Amino acid sequence: MFDRDVYRARREGLRRGLGPGIALFLGNDESPMNYADNTYRFRQDSSFLYYFGLDTAGLVAIIDLDEGTETLYGPELTVEDFVWTGPLPSLGDRAALAGVERVMAPARLEEDLGRIRQAGRAVHFLPPYRPENKLKLLAWLGVPPDRASAEASVPFIRAVVEQRSVKSPEEIAEIEKAVDISVDMHLAALRLVRPGFTEARIAAAVHQVALAAGGDLSFPIIATVHGEVLHQHAQTETLTSGGMFLLDAGAETALHYAGDLSTTMPVDGRFTDRQKDVYRIALAAHETAKSALKPGAPHLDVHLAACRMIAEGLKGLGLMKGDLDEAVRRGAHALFFPCGEGHMMGLDVHDMEDLGEVYVGYEGRPKSTQFGLKSLRLARPLRPGFVVTVEPGIYFIPQLIDQWRAENRFPEHIDYDRVEAYKDFGGLRNEEDVLITGNGHRVLGRKKPLTVEEIEALVGKADA
Ligand code: GLY
Ligand code: MN
Repeated sequence: MFDRDVYRARREGLRRGLGPGIALFLGNDESPMNYADNTYRFRQDSSFLYYFGLDTAGLVAIIDLDEGTETLYGPELTVEDFVWTGPLPSLGDRAALAGVERVMAPARLEEDLGRIRQAGRAVHFLPPYRPENKLKLLAWLGVPPDRASAEASVPFIRAVVEQRSVKSPEEIAEIEKAVDISVDMHLAALRLVRPGFTEARIAAAVHQVALAAGGDLSFPIIATVHGEVLHQHAQTETLTSGGMFLLDAGAETALHYAGDLSTTMPVDGRFTDRQKDVYRIALAAHETAKSALKPGAPHLDVHLAACRMIAEGLKGLGLMKGDLDEAVRRGAHALFFPCGEGHMMGLDVHDMEDLGEVYVGYEGRPKSTQFGLKSLRLARPLRPGFVVTVEPGIYFIPQLIDQWRAENRFPEHIDYDRVEAYKDFGGLRNEEDVLITGNGHRVLGRKKPLTVEEIEALVGKADA
């Protein structure tokens, strides 16, 4: 945990940003895999971590926004529990680590919330994403589970987004630690990749680095020979000569801050000429996007600059044609780049996505519905202290190409006969994590291999 004063200051900031009533924080419970005692790795809710830092299951907290009192509700473990868990600090001692003075048994919560509601006071809660927390809101506040997100407090969401978007120096140091571990994960994969190895074997080596560093993964590893499948989580294929391997993986530190990097590498250690051509276009888009990252720049413009670079490169290969400003405006490039160029990162790899992309990335304004643009998570102007990813890619998705061709979409911008020859290409991207500074940006963590030459120098260099 950070020092208790960090959590106190965050809660004080929240109180200043939020009107009267109470703020209700639902921590997470253990989540069973196949029977109650066999649980997934415990992951605390990120906003609970941000304001209270306490990383155990079954906690709920209330901040009384009018009186300024703070109460932590949670189970008090007994010696019989310690038989299984080993000794743990009392609830009071844990609360003190977060600077919270009052603790209560969970049984008191329903009663306290009942009194607060009877008094007609506002109960602010964040959108719940776990079923058990939706059921708690039903039991305590009478909120139907299918209405829980809609009835969440918009002022609470906005106040949390305002605070969590701007990372403090201690958070930046923690994120940088996560990125450094993530770089090691990618170096491990680069050195191991070779024909005949399975995706699973590489993923296991990548995961090992994260675990050995004292944390775990910030999201399930994408380790695939099918880079064109954006979130390919199956690891069932074998790497073959002439192909490419895409790793999208990041570490989460013990304090739960995320890293998120992507690397594309040739299985043989040498990109083919065709792979090099496409790789260099994606890299040019990457560098264009990165150089546009500065305070005040709308992230939408950063994304569009990357799209434009991809369109130009693909025009050079004869795959796109016509007026490229028009092509990008109308979304023709999305055949090859159907997703966003980057997203916020912090305690969550897609930071605060549970609070709603419209609030996190669009300042409450509606998102575009255009194919491609609708997947951009962040459009708002950047501010110092934001941490964002840079991850433009180029993807040849056979089913999408077939569909667009059949529908004759954008024939003035896409040469489908030429694209046909790339249907077996796959897909590629690189990804880095970047801090917006007072006058520009800084790439976080140790330098990760990016250029064709840097990648080729490393691939397959480890003993098996
Ligand atoms: N690294 C996975 C993603 O950004 O969606
Ligand atoms: Mn990412």
